[in-house]
Amino acid sequence: MNKKDVNNILVIHGPNLNLLGIREPGIYGQLMLEDINRNLSRQAEKVSVNISFFQSNAESALVDRIQLAMTDGTDFIIINPAAYTHTSIAMRDALAAVKLPFIEVHLSNIFSRESFRHHSYFSDMAVGIISGLGAKGYELALEYVLALRG
Ligand code: DQA
Repeated sequence: MNKKDVNNILVIHGPNLNLLGIREPGIYGQLMLEDINRNLSRQAEKVSVNISFFQSNAESALVDRIQLAMTDGTDFIIINPAAYTHTSIAMRDALAAVKLPFIEVHLSNIFSRESFRHHSYFSDMAVGIISGLGAKGYELALEYVLALRG
């Protein structure tokens, strides 16, 4: 990928992340999803990069959105697949098909939680993963992507 070609970033949030702020705040933090997205929008606006957001609780909708990224001009994906991290071969296959670079983000440290959360179907294909830094993880992922622009 040409470094200068990162102009359109897609942020994908998986199931139950629409409940952030309400859902187990001790694990996932107090911020609502809109707060996280707003902060990311501000970060991208400062350098005139387009950023768009998609959240769904449905695996098929997430697969469809990933597939759309093949033709809608997306250059880079930041994704928190949430519970589908640990189950979804379909989302993995979609990311493999679109061949776009992506960073996997988790609010919580999946490795310090239940053993079923320790395996991700995405990590080996990701540019990198950030896990356990809360909402800051999304910002750090975006900072990395924006820095690719050189
Ligand atoms: C999560 C971790 C997953 O194990 C969990 O199912 C989620 C959120 C996180 O952001 O920490 O829904 O991806």
